[in-house]
Amino acid sequence: MTTVLDVQRFKDEGRRFAMLTAYDFLSARILDEAGIPILLVGDSLGMVMLGYPTTLPVTLDEMIHHAKAVARGSRQALLVGDMPFMSYHVSVEQAIESAGRFVQEGGMHAVKLEGGGRVVEITRRLTEMGIPVMGHLGLTPQSVHQMGGFKVQGKTEAQAERILADAKALEEAGAFSLVLEGVPSTLAGRVTSSIRIPTIGIGAGPQTDGQVLVFHDFLGLTTGKAPKFVKRYANFADDITRAAQQFADEVRKGTFPDPEHEYSANGVKPSAREVKYGAGA
Ligand code: KIV
Repeated sequence: MTTVLDVQRFKDEGRRFAMLTAYDFLSARILDEAGIPILLVGDSLGMVMLGYPTTLPVTLDEMIHHAKAVARGSRQALLVGDMPFMSYHVSVEQAIESAGRFVQEGGMHAVKLEGGGRVVEITRRLTEMGIPVMGHLGLTPQSVHQMGGFKVQGKTEAQAERILADAKALEEAGAFSLVLEGVPSTLAGRVTSSIRIPTIGIGAGPQTDGQVLVFHDFLGLTTGKAPKFVKRYANFADDITRAAQQFADEVRKGTFPDPEHEYSANGVKPSAREVKYGAGA
């Protein structure tokens, strides 16, 4: 099984690595068997699975519901649960309780938290308690209203210095890795070479130690426009549309089910009723 020590070793040995989001049993099983070393139950599930306009409405209970399914599907990957908005914002105690639920109920091995500043202290406390923390800096979607939209962060030298300082503080507090989202490539490179823990980029160029993509984006399982940095490794939305249209068409024409085909798994000829209504009829 991949552990936080392996993730550190990847960086130490100069091995770049992939992380993908997963939200359910089957996708986790497939990605895990494909050898993806880290699966993130991202709060992006609020948008891609539940249809919310941002990640803000997704609750800890919803996250844990999906985390449990991912944990059932996965055998090898390091599983990271993304702490949703307002599950760690009230107090350090609240953050500990939420992270504890992710591990105890959700079956996660680590948690991810967005931001620097006061998140540094939460990172220290969780790490002390044996819950590994993945940091997340740059474009932090839970602060979408503060940022005035989903905008690249760290473009000015002052912003870049802030992100660099937060990265160092998170490392010092015990974070085992750091997501860098929506920052200029040069800044991502600067952060990556300034800290010992691995960085994982999304929309941050090629100079990070690892890369993460959202499951639906990388498979082309989206209806709208994907962000510019996304590479689609498949076109599932098109495939599903084509398959659904073909199915509906064949049902309309009466070519499915094939009247000539014997739908029997055990070699016994199905009855006319079974042919019409399915096995067990
Ligand atoms: O929620 C998520 O999917 C994320 C990744 C984009 C890093 O935070």
